[in-house]
Amino acid sequence: MSVSGGDAPVAGASRPPISRRRVLGLAAGGVLAGSAAWIIRGDGSPARLRPGATGQVLRQPDILDSRHGRLEVDLVAAPGAEVAGRDTSALAYNGQTPGPTLRLRPGDTLALRLTNRLDEPTNLHTHGLRVSPAGNGDNPFVRVEPGASFSYLIQVPRDHPVGTYWYHPHHHGTAADQQFGGLAGALLVVPEGPLGESASDVEVDDDVVLVVTDITLNADGRVAAVSDTARSLGRQGELLLINGQHRTAIPAVVGSTARWRIVNACTSQVLRLRLDGHRLTQIALDGSYLRRPLDLDAVTLAPGNRADVVVRAGSSGAYELIAESYDRGRMGDRSTARPPMPLATFAVAATSIRSAPARAWRLPPVEQPVAPAVPGASSRQIEFTMRMAGAQMTFELDGRAFDPRRDDQSVVLGATEDWLLTNLGPLDHPFHLHTWPFWVVAGSDGLPPAGILQDVVLVPARGWVHLRVPFTENPGRAVYHCHIVDHSDAGMMGVIEVAAER
Ligand code: C2O
Ligand code: CU
Repeated sequence: MSVSGGDAPVAGASRPPISRRRVLGLAAGGVLAGSAAWIIRGDGSPARLRPGATGQVLRQPDILDSRHGRLEVDLVAAPGAEVAGRDTSALAYNGQTPGPTLRLRPGDTLALRLTNRLDEPTNLHTHGLRVSPAGNGDNPFVRVEPGASFSYLIQVPRDHPVGTYWYHPHHHGTAADQQFGGLAGALLVVPEGPLGESASDVEVDDDVVLVVTDITLNADGRVAAVSDTARSLGRQGELLLINGQHRTAIPAVVGSTARWRIVNACTSQVLRLRLDGHRLTQIALDGSYLRRPLDLDAVTLAPGNRADVVVRAGSSGAYELIAESYDRGRMGDRSTARPPMPLATFAVAATSIRSAPARAWRLPPVEQPVAPAVPGASSRQIEFTMRMAGAQMTFELDGRAFDPRRDDQSVVLGATEDWLLTNLGPLDHPFHLHTWPFWVVAGSDGLPPAGILQDVVLVPARGWVHLRVPFTENPGRAVYHCHIVDHSDAGMMGVIEVAAER
């Protein structure tokens, strides 16, 4: 796709979009009947569930839209969900995995009542939202017991950026099992004003959510048990799904454009996505528009990252969307790399609709980094630490396991700090800070930083990342952690308190 020259479309431009139904109708007819190429393991491990459907047309989770400044949601976490076309006892929000897509506007209030029908505690985190972590806000210390409910009240600031965010459980110790079990959903902040099916402020024909999850299911439809070794490496599911579907077909017509809001909701996997025969034009990362569109062969998302990409359908045909092999490091002889996996088929149908010309994407302006509090200095350093304790590997930050009663970092509200994250260990760790997104200033991988506020960054094995974090709003207590959820559940998480100077 061309990203230079020409008249750039802007938010609210008026070319009538091809309706999604029409696009779906055109491609749903045939391209991909399901032929499940599936391997039943012959190595003595329990038989796995074969996907009941492969190649079905991409479906969207239900959309719950705010009205008159408010979105009221009753969210029930319970087992029982359709996964890969099968009825399973995977975990669901309101009966679906992923859960419904929550759509909010800047200035809205999200009143969300979470009911726990699981057999262990849970809670909810609105990942990436720049909202208060206090009280019944986006508070990671909340604990909702089995059978109980909790009412969150989340106030989205008027100046909150529009973009792609997500939600998932965050109860310490149970978060990995619950997210891997199926608990995750997209949360979009969309512009004010009337919206149809498309929520995009960048002009595209189609705007869809692609929540990528992984799971392993036994033949009886139950989530497979996870070994200690798999937890140490960060578990990786044998099924890689988009919106709960196995090798879904994403329909398009020749020349049409789609915005894919990709959420990496896998507990551990780094996704490196490549689309045969197409370039992916990344326009946003973690809810922030990039400074300029990036035309890529492959887009990479650490666990927790979101990438918004624009795809312009080429000539008619079926193209594979592949999750490439990615090596997050190894422990002893155990590697984290897995073979490339087909994730979806991009099913491009010919049409008589006049195709749109290739064009550039002009993106809304982004906030610029500001000077550090202490020029040139790192005012804070955080180290990912792993060590053997007996037969067990520990996962800690700065040599301490998570303790919700202890403040690990105290920050003065209004400060902009430079943080140096170091990782001497053999595994990559994706670092996530709640509430306060950060700029990446530099990293040991030498790649140019995105130059926008993001909320997850991969800290490579034996590497480092330098961040700049503005703590200008939302005082309160929150957490920072490795977003390999097995690692944060094991203790690789710290507490940060941001408070006005007394
Ligand atoms: Cu997406 Cu603290 O998490
Ligand atoms: Cu980690």
